[in-house]
Amino acid sequence: MTAAPQAGAASARACSLAGRHVVLGVTGSIAAYKAAELLRMLTRNGAEAQPVMTQGATHFLGPLTLATLAGRETFVEMFARDDADIRHIALARWADIAVVAPATADFLGKYRSGIVDDVLLNLLLALPSQRVPVVVAPAMNDEMFAHPAVQENLETLARRGVFVVPPEHGELACKTIGPGRLADLARIVQHCERALCAASSAADFRGRRVVVTAGPTRQYLDPVRFLSNPSTGRMGAAVARAAWTRGADVSVVAGPMDRALLPADVATVFVESVQDMLEAVRAAMSADAMLVMTAAVGDFAPPRAPEKIKKTGQVRTLELLPTPDILTAVRAQHPRATLAGFAAETSDVCARAREKLVRKKLDVIVGNRVGVADSGFAGPTTDAVLIDRTGWEQDVGAVEKTALAHLILDRLRELAP
Ligand SMILES: Cc1cc2nc3c(=O)[nH]c(=O)nc-3n(C[C@H](O)[C@H](O)[C@H](O)COP(=O)(O)O)c2cc1C
Repeated sequence: MTAAPQAGAASARACSLAGRHVVLGVTGSIAAYKAAELLRMLTRNGAEAQPVMTQGATHFLGPLTLATLAGRETFVEMFARDDADIRHIALARWADIAVVAPATADFLGKYRSGIVDDVLLNLLLALPSQRVPVVVAPAMNDEMFAHPAVQENLETLARRGVFVVPPEHGELACKTIGPGRLADLARIVQHCERALCAASSAADFRGRRVVVTAGPTRQYLDPVRFLSNPSTGRMGAAVARAAWTRGADVSVVAGPMDRALLPADVATVFVESVQDMLEAVRAAMSADAMLVMTAAVGDFAPPRAPEKIKKTGQVRTLELLPTPDILTAVRAQHPRATLAGFAAETSDVCARAREKLVRKKLDVIVGNRVGVADSGFAGPTTDAVLIDRTGWEQDVGAVEKTALAHLILDRLRELAP
């Protein structure tokens, strides 16, 4: 066995908000009140946040609110002096990332044009652009958002490397329904992580296709009853998020699970049966794609009765047929694809995982110790050993699923053609 993982930890760190200095810019949109919750989410993720507001924003949210949540003064004034420092220059040097949420039409126009008439715009232009990514999350009336001036401003900013989190379609403050609603806050946080990753050398999956399966399957015995398992899809969600954050083009094929666990900007197909999962995986795969098969796929399926089976009070025997093996089918179709499987085992984890790796012609296998504390279904951690086709092995022990996800990706990156 090799020593404790380093590479995965490095990728996880580079793409994480933990310990990062975040400038949170807030502009004069009705959605400004949401910036308070965004600030809390950033700090909950371990970031240190410095709020900066436009004068316009102060009509919608008190600077004291953000200052209290951040534990730092909210900067609004341009012509103020902090001890020996020029405020906007000092902030630009301090920042690891800047996120402007909500971003008004007015702000976007000025930022695109290089008009710097407040402290936020001054500091954004003073950022070292190669090192510090900028994320903007527009929010406005749907007609304003559709206006060519706004669209051109966003296109130009995106071309310059600014990360734009598109607004969502929904009910707007002006009582219309359309695109313009500030993106979901968790989504803004995910885009910040992706932007941090892109600004480091950890965005090593750019141009790569990664297919991830997640959650349980359901095999119905009749229209209202099914066989399943307690998988929540957390491991698959962690892999999908890590791959998306590292720049991959990700597709998720998910069994019944909580949609909110999955990254918002990742294309997801929901399925129930093993057969449907196989078909969706086949449709998502390409010759040189990577597949991480975290789904807890049922091994057996009963024949499905067309009508609800009636209660008779008698013993009922269930005939169980084998389900198709997704990894074997994908390997037969795509000999060059890079495949990772999971083996959940209650004993002999390494030996059984190694046997499965060889039998299914996998590149990587994750042996999962189930039935022990802090491991397996539902929780945030799992106890695992990683093995690859070259004979390399690493006993990772009990780790956060996010950290394990990065380790799996590191291994796939190493082995992919
Ligand atoms: C009630 C109200 C709500 C507003 N909401 C938005 C909005 O959601 N998005 C936007 O771009 N502008 C909105 N505006 C207009 C901006 O506040 C205005 O353009 C202002 O100059 C923006 O200044 P700033 O970009 O410096 O913060 C709103 C104005 C009012 C009065």
